[in-house]
Amino acid sequence: MKVIPITRFICLFALIGFLSNSTQASELKTEKAILTAPPMVPPAINRDHSAKVVIKLETKEQIGSIADGVDYVFWSFGETVPGSFIRVREGDEIEFHLSNHPSSKMPHNIDLHAVTGPGGGAESSFTAPGHTSTFSFKALNPGLYIYHCATAPVGMHIANGMYGLILVEPEGGLKPVDREYYVVQGDFYTKGEFGEAGLQPFDMAKAIDEDADYVVFNGSVGSTTNENALTAKVGETVRLYVGNGGPNLVSSFHVIGEIFDTVYVEGGDLKNHNVQTTLIPAGGAAIVEFKVDVPGTFILVDHSIFRAFNKGALAMLKVEGEEQEKIFSGKQADNVYLPEGSAIQSLDNTHTAVTAKTKDEQVRFGQRVYESNCMACHQANGQGIPSAFPPLAKSDYLNANPLLGVDAIIKGLSGPIKVNNVTYNSVMPAMGLNDQDIANVITFVLNNWGNEGGQVSTEQVAARRK
Ligand code: CU
Repeated sequence: MKVIPITRFICLFALIGFLSNSTQASELKTEKAILTAPPMVPPAINRDHSAKVVIKLETKEQIGSIADGVDYVFWSFGETVPGSFIRVREGDEIEFHLSNHPSSKMPHNIDLHAVTGPGGGAESSFTAPGHTSTFSFKALNPGLYIYHCATAPVGMHIANGMYGLILVEPEGGLKPVDREYYVVQGDFYTKGEFGEAGLQPFDMAKAIDEDADYVVFNGSVGSTTNENALTAKVGETVRLYVGNGGPNLVSSFHVIGEIFDTVYVEGGDLKNHNVQTTLIPAGGAAIVEFKVDVPGTFILVDHSIFRAFNKGALAMLKVEGEEQEKIFSGKQADNVYLPEGSAIQSLDNTHTAVTAKTKDEQVRFGQRVYESNCMACHQANGQGIPSAFPPLAKSDYLNANPLLGVDAIIKGLSGPIKVNNVTYNSVMPAMGLNDQDIANVITFVLNNWGNEGGQVSTEQVAARRK
């Protein structure tokens, strides 16, 4: 075919480039960066040479959901919190275009911790609404880096969600793994308390006090749970790129039921092995790797644990595959142990509930109440734990009279009860939930896992409480 003339053409261009004293940048091939929304990660870089990489990122201010029934005006890079994942290679020359959407009320910029240069690019990228700024930098140091907006008031821009991760792969690349995911923690400060319904404005006083209402992964409570969970199969290797946008809190990142085989400490070259919990500073990152050996749902948390179960810092990795009983047996025996003096305890839980307007909303809000308060005992699919906690799935006890479930949540429950012809004799504490949460969680249970449907209202719960 006509390969030879084309080759000559390229050679001619190379020669002209050489003779005209061109800069090194112009000799590099140009490519457009692939950007991804969380929790996805762009494909590994497989070139063995530097390139000129063109990155186009947009800042935008938009309303989104931070929790069920709770909205927030997020400021974002690439319309997501965290912003788009950026992946380049050590030695690449990056031409960065930052566009600020015309609908923005504020100017924005970007400080990439991967940049060697004043402000990490902040001054050079300061961009008014309806403008685009361009600057270039060379990725000198490999590692995983946070980027964030650094426009004054800086704390407010970060608190509104303006952060993300940029990975600078080392020249030799990273070891291939089966799955890669992108997770960033952030703390949020709202006028209303956790779960208070409606559009919640940013609260500067709480932010200064570091008194977070929400601590979440990937921008909202439940962003990465249930049908949106991360997934893997038994035997696969998983790599998580974990960042912490802050603005204030340091993350004690942990995956319940897993041990990190390798942690790239603080996202740098130092590799630690066999780690349970790794600290991720605000404005920092870590790469964690582990092989998933057994099936199940593995919960990602900030192990400052009230943040996980009461403020939203909880995500899920669902692993499918064959049980590996040599590695983990599951429950092998359970016998009643009720020493003298044991009695029903009361759990206090007084947060302001979201008011559900429809049955569908009740089911949706109830699911979150379930995950925070009930799932540990009654399990993810309501199957319970044999001889300890009765099933809520296909439960004849509950379907016959859902108000018995209401009673149990209000007052606690002890003494034998029969569910699906099996007698359970365990102790359930009074949960301290408010009437709306109780109505929602019972409605959620009634409409899942093969139960018979139905609905319980806040008024019914209130009547039952009397
Ligand atoms: Cu900004």
